Amino acid sequence: MNNRPIGIFDSGVGGLTVVRAVLDHLPQEDIIYYGDTARFPYGPRDLSEVREFVFQIARYLIDQGVKIIVLACNTGTAAGLVEAQKAFDVPIIGVVEPGARGAALATVNRRVGVIGTEGTIASASYQRAIAAYDAGIEVTAQACPRFVEFAQRGEVDGAAVKRQAEEYLAPLKHADVDTVILGCTHYPLLAGVIGAVMGPEVKLISSATETAAEVEENLIRRGYLRQGNGGASHRFVVSGDTAAFQDLITLFLGTSAGNVDKVVLGE
Ligand code: DGL
Repeated sequence: MNNRPIGIFDSGVGGLTVVRAVLDHLPQEDIIYYGDTARFPYGPRDLSEVREFVFQIARYLIDQGVKIIVLACNTGTAAGLVEAQKAFDVPIIGVVEPGARGAALATVNRRVGVIGTEGTIASASYQRAIAAYDAGIEVTAQACPRFVEFAQRGEVDGAAVKRQAEEYLAPLKHADVDTVILGCTHYPLLAGVIGAVMGPEVKLISSATETAAEVEENLIRRGYLRQGNGGASHRFVVSGDTAAFQDLITLFLGTSAGNVDKVVLGE
Protein backbone atom coordinates (compact mmCIF):
# COMPACT_ATOMS: atom_id res chain seq x y z
CA MET A 1 0.00 0.00 0.00
CA ASN A 2 1.18 3.51 -0.79
CA ASN A 3 -1.18 6.44 -0.21
CA ARG A 4 0.99 9.14 -1.75
CA PRO A 5 -0.40 10.88 -4.87
CA ILE A 6 0.31 10.20 -8.54
CA GLY A 7 2.02 13.16 -10.26
CA ILE A 8 0.98 13.88 -13.85
CA PHE A 9 2.23 16.70 -16.05
CA ASP A 10 2.09 18.26 -19.50
CA SER A 11 2.64 21.62 -21.16
CA GLY A 12 -1.08 22.40 -20.89
CA VAL A 13 -4.47 20.69 -21.10
CA GLY A 14 -3.23 17.67 -23.08
CA GLY A 15 -2.28 15.73 -19.97
CA LEU A 16 -5.90 16.02 -18.80
CA THR A 17 -6.66 13.26 -21.32
CA VAL A 18 -4.28 11.10 -19.28
CA VAL A 19 -5.89 12.28 -16.02
CA ARG A 20 -9.30 11.31 -17.44
CA ALA A 21 -8.03 7.82 -18.28
CA VAL A 22 -6.26 7.43 -14.90
CA LEU A 23 -9.49 8.47 -13.10
CA ASP A 24 -11.34 5.75 -15.03
CA HIS A 25 -8.76 3.06 -14.19
CA LEU A 26 -7.81 4.18 -10.68
CA PRO A 27 -10.63 6.27 -9.16
CA GLN A 28 -9.31 5.81 -5.61
CA GLU A 29 -5.92 7.46 -6.31
CA ASP A 30 -4.91 10.99 -5.29
CA ILE A 31 -3.54 13.04 -8.20
CA ILE A 32 -1.45 16.19 -8.51
CA TYR A 33 -1.50 17.64 -12.03
CA TYR A 34 0.94 20.26 -13.26
CA GLY A 35 0.19 22.11 -16.53
CA ASP A 36 3.05 24.32 -17.72
CA THR A 37 0.65 26.66 -19.48
CA ALA A 38 2.90 29.74 -19.25
CA ARG A 39 5.49 27.94 -21.40
CA PHE A 40 3.01 26.17 -23.71
CA PRO A 41 3.53 25.02 -26.45
CA TYR A 42 6.49 22.67 -26.07
CA GLY A 43 6.19 21.29 -29.62
CA PRO A 44 8.21 23.96 -31.49
CA ARG A 45 10.90 24.32 -28.77
CA ASP A 46 14.37 22.83 -28.76
CA LEU A 47 14.29 19.37 -27.18
CA SER A 48 17.12 20.42 -24.81
CA GLU A 49 14.96 23.26 -23.47
CA VAL A 50 11.96 20.93 -23.04
CA ARG A 51 14.24 18.49 -21.18
CA GLU A 52 15.10 21.26 -18.71
CA PHE A 53 11.35 21.90 -18.12
CA VAL A 54 10.80 18.15 -17.59
CA PHE A 55 13.47 18.14 -14.89
CA GLN A 56 12.04 21.22 -13.13
CA ILE A 57 8.52 19.79 -13.04
CA ALA A 58 9.65 16.29 -11.98
CA ARG A 59 11.60 17.88 -9.11
CA TYR A 60 8.55 19.93 -8.09
CA LEU A 61 6.26 16.87 -8.10
CA ILE A 62 8.76 14.83 -6.09
CA ASP A 63 8.86 17.68 -3.55
CA GLN A 64 5.06 17.29 -3.31
CA GLY A 65 5.60 13.64 -2.28
CA VAL A 66 4.36 11.75 -5.36
CA LYS A 67 4.88 7.96 -5.59
CA ILE A 68 5.04 7.82 -9.39
CA ILE A 69 5.22 10.40 -12.19
CA VAL A 70 3.41 10.24 -15.50
CA LEU A 71 5.12 12.37 -18.12
CA ALA A 72 1.84 12.98 -19.93
CA CYS A 73 3.42 14.85 -22.82
CA ASN A 74 4.86 13.14 -25.88
CA THR A 75 7.21 16.03 -26.60
CA GLY A 76 8.51 15.91 -23.03
CA THR A 77 8.82 12.13 -23.23
CA ALA A 78 10.80 12.36 -26.48
CA ALA A 79 12.99 15.12 -25.02
CA GLY A 80 13.74 13.88 -21.53
CA LEU A 81 12.14 10.65 -20.32
CA VAL A 82 15.32 8.57 -20.38
CA GLU A 83 17.42 11.24 -18.68
CA ALA A 84 14.75 11.89 -16.04
CA GLN A 85 14.42 8.17 -15.30
CA LYS A 86 18.16 8.04 -14.71
CA ALA A 87 18.20 11.18 -12.55
CA PHE A 88 15.29 10.58 -10.13
CA ASP A 89 14.40 7.82 -7.66
CA VAL A 90 10.64 7.89 -8.32
CA PRO A 91 9.39 5.73 -11.25
CA ILE A 92 8.56 7.85 -14.31
CA ILE A 93 6.26 6.63 -17.08
CA GLY A 94 6.22 8.27 -20.49
CA VAL A 95 3.50 8.19 -23.14
CA VAL A 96 5.40 7.15 -26.28
CA GLU A 97 6.10 3.53 -25.50
CA PRO A 98 2.54 2.60 -24.40
CA GLY A 99 1.10 4.20 -27.56
CA ALA A 100 3.61 2.44 -29.79
CA ARG A 101 2.81 -0.89 -28.16
CA GLY A 102 -0.95 -0.33 -28.55
CA ALA A 103 -0.54 0.42 -32.26
CA ALA A 104 1.83 -2.49 -32.93
CA LEU A 105 -0.74 -4.83 -31.36
CA ALA A 106 -3.72 -3.27 -33.18
CA THR A 107 -2.53 -2.94 -36.78
CA VAL A 108 -3.54 -5.69 -39.21
CA ASN A 109 -2.02 -4.39 -42.46
CA ARG A 110 1.14 -3.28 -40.56
CA ARG A 111 0.80 0.31 -41.75
CA VAL A 112 0.66 2.75 -38.87
CA GLY A 113 0.29 6.53 -38.91
CA VAL A 114 1.73 8.68 -36.13
CA ILE A 115 0.72 12.29 -35.57
CA GLY A 116 2.40 14.56 -33.03
CA THR A 117 4.16 17.86 -32.46
CA GLU A 118 7.17 18.89 -34.56
CA GLY A 119 9.47 17.96 -31.65
CA THR A 120 8.01 14.49 -31.22
CA ILE A 121 7.96 13.66 -34.93
CA ALA A 122 11.49 15.03 -35.52
CA SER A 123 12.83 12.94 -32.61
CA ALA A 124 11.66 9.74 -34.39
CA SER A 125 10.80 8.32 -30.93
CA TYR A 126 7.65 6.60 -32.17
CA GLN A 127 9.38 5.11 -35.19
CA ARG A 128 11.99 3.56 -32.86
CA ALA A 129 9.45 2.40 -30.28
CA ILE A 130 7.23 0.76 -32.93
CA ALA A 131 10.22 -0.95 -34.53
CA ALA A 132 11.09 -2.46 -31.14
CA TYR A 133 7.76 -4.34 -31.29
CA ASP A 134 7.66 -5.12 -35.03
CA ALA A 135 10.39 -3.81 -37.29
CA GLY A 136 8.26 -4.71 -40.34
CA ILE A 137 5.61 -2.08 -39.60
CA GLU A 138 5.63 0.78 -42.09
CA VAL A 139 5.26 4.08 -40.22
CA THR A 140 3.97 7.30 -41.77
CA ALA A 141 4.63 10.23 -39.44
CA GLN A 142 3.10 13.69 -39.67
CA ALA A 143 3.58 16.75 -37.45
CA CYS A 144 0.28 18.56 -36.77
CA PRO A 145 1.34 21.69 -34.82
CA ARG A 146 -1.95 23.56 -35.12
CA PHE A 147 -3.93 20.76 -33.46
CA VAL A 148 -2.54 21.69 -30.03
CA GLU A 149 -3.66 25.28 -30.43
CA PHE A 150 -7.22 24.19 -31.23
CA ALA A 151 -7.30 21.76 -28.27
CA GLN A 152 -5.69 24.21 -25.83
CA ARG A 153 -8.43 26.77 -26.45
CA GLY A 154 -11.21 24.16 -26.30
CA GLU A 155 -12.04 24.33 -30.03
CA VAL A 156 -12.55 20.61 -30.66
CA ASP A 157 -14.86 20.65 -33.68
CA GLY A 158 -16.07 22.97 -36.44
CA ALA A 159 -15.05 23.82 -39.99
CA ALA A 160 -11.55 25.18 -39.25
CA VAL A 161 -10.48 22.06 -37.31
CA LYS A 162 -11.96 19.81 -40.01
CA ARG A 163 -10.13 21.65 -42.82
CA GLN A 164 -6.85 21.45 -40.93
CA ALA A 165 -7.37 17.76 -40.18
CA GLU A 166 -8.02 16.99 -43.85
CA GLU A 167 -4.77 18.68 -44.80
CA TYR A 168 -2.63 17.07 -42.09
CA LEU A 169 -4.07 13.58 -42.46
CA ALA A 170 -3.91 13.32 -46.28
CA PRO A 171 -0.47 11.57 -46.28
CA LEU A 172 -1.76 8.99 -43.77
CA LYS A 173 -4.79 8.25 -45.92
CA HIS A 174 -2.56 8.02 -48.96
CA ALA A 175 -0.32 5.50 -47.14
CA ASP A 176 -3.43 3.39 -46.38
CA VAL A 177 -2.73 3.13 -42.65
CA ASP A 178 -5.24 1.07 -40.62
CA THR A 179 -4.12 2.49 -37.26
CA VAL A 180 -3.27 6.04 -36.17
CA ILE A 181 -1.44 6.92 -32.96
CA LEU A 182 -2.62 10.17 -31.42
CA GLY A 183 0.98 10.92 -30.48
CA CYS A 184 0.29 14.11 -28.56
CA THR A 185 -1.80 14.12 -25.42
CA HIS A 186 -3.78 17.09 -26.73
CA TYR A 187 -5.06 15.10 -29.73
CA PRO A 188 -7.59 12.77 -28.05
CA LEU A 189 -9.60 15.97 -27.55
CA LEU A 190 -9.88 16.16 -31.36
CA ALA A 191 -10.53 12.42 -31.81
CA GLY A 192 -14.03 13.06 -33.19
CA VAL A 193 -12.73 15.11 -36.12
CA ILE A 194 -9.64 12.95 -36.68
CA GLY A 195 -11.79 9.79 -36.70
CA ALA A 196 -14.29 11.35 -39.12
CA VAL A 197 -11.52 12.33 -41.56
CA MET A 198 -9.72 8.95 -41.36
CA GLY A 199 -12.92 6.91 -41.61
CA PRO A 200 -14.55 4.35 -39.32
CA GLU A 201 -12.31 1.44 -40.33
CA VAL A 202 -9.15 3.18 -39.04
CA LYS A 203 -8.29 2.54 -35.37
CA LEU A 204 -7.21 5.51 -33.27
CA ILE A 205 -4.73 4.73 -30.51
CA SER A 206 -4.76 7.23 -27.67
CA SER A 207 -1.47 7.29 -25.83
CA ALA A 208 -3.52 8.56 -22.86
CA THR A 209 -5.59 5.39 -22.53
CA GLU A 210 -2.62 3.09 -23.14
CA THR A 211 -0.57 4.96 -20.54
CA ALA A 212 -3.29 4.79 -17.87
CA ALA A 213 -3.36 1.00 -18.26
CA GLU A 214 0.41 0.96 -17.78
CA VAL A 215 0.19 3.14 -14.65
CA GLU A 216 -2.38 0.75 -13.17
CA GLU A 217 -0.23 -2.29 -13.87
CA ASN A 218 2.80 -0.52 -12.42
CA LEU A 219 1.02 0.33 -9.15
CA ILE A 220 -0.44 -3.17 -8.79
CA ARG A 221 2.90 -4.90 -9.37
CA ARG A 222 4.70 -2.65 -6.91
CA GLY A 223 1.98 -2.94 -4.29
CA TYR A 224 1.53 0.83 -4.54
CA LEU A 225 -2.28 1.10 -4.76
CA ARG A 226 -3.94 3.58 -2.40
CA GLN A 227 -6.08 1.99 0.34
CA GLY A 228 -8.82 3.54 2.42
CA ASN A 229 -12.40 4.67 1.99
CA GLY A 230 -11.87 8.42 1.94
CA GLY A 231 -12.58 10.26 -1.32
CA ALA A 232 -9.57 10.83 -3.57
CA SER A 233 -8.14 14.34 -3.85
CA HIS A 234 -7.26 15.90 -7.19
CA ARG A 235 -5.08 18.99 -7.14
CA PHE A 236 -4.35 21.08 -10.23
CA VAL A 237 -1.42 23.47 -10.55
CA VAL A 238 -0.50 25.62 -13.56
CA SER A 239 2.21 28.13 -14.38
CA GLY A 240 -0.16 30.47 -16.25
CA ASP A 241 -3.74 31.72 -15.94
CA THR A 242 -5.69 29.72 -13.34
CA ALA A 243 -9.27 30.78 -14.20
CA ALA A 244 -8.95 29.81 -17.88
CA PHE A 245 -7.55 26.43 -16.86
CA GLN A 246 -10.38 25.82 -14.42
CA ASP A 247 -12.88 26.20 -17.28
CA LEU A 248 -10.93 23.76 -19.45
CA ILE A 249 -10.83 21.19 -16.63
CA THR A 250 -14.60 21.38 -16.32
CA LEU A 251 -14.94 21.05 -20.11
CA PHE A 252 -12.55 18.11 -20.53
CA LEU A 253 -12.91 16.18 -17.27
CA GLY A 254 -16.60 16.86 -16.83
CA THR A 255 -16.04 17.75 -13.17
CA SER A 256 -15.19 20.98 -11.48
CA ALA A 257 -11.62 21.15 -10.24
CA GLY A 258 -12.02 23.27 -7.15
CA ASN A 259 -9.18 25.74 -6.83
CA VAL A 260 -6.38 25.73 -9.39
CA ASP A 261 -3.08 26.91 -7.89
CA LYS A 262 -0.39 28.85 -9.68
CA VAL A 263 3.25 27.79 -9.29
CA VAL A 264 5.93 29.17 -11.61
CA LEU A 265 9.08 27.07 -11.92
CA GLY A 266 12.54 27.89 -13.19
CA GLU A 267 12.73 31.57 -12.18
N1 DGL B 1 0.64 17.66 -25.14
C1 DGL B 1 1.99 17.75 -25.62
C2 DGL B 1 2.42 16.43 -26.25
O1 DGL B 1 1.87 15.40 -25.91
C3 DGL B 1 2.37 18.84 -26.55
C4 DGL B 1 1.70 20.11 -26.67
C5 DGL B 1 2.70 21.24 -26.86
O2 DGL B 1 3.16 21.48 -27.99
O3 DGL B 1 3.02 21.84 -25.85
O4 DGL B 1 3.31 16.40 -27.06
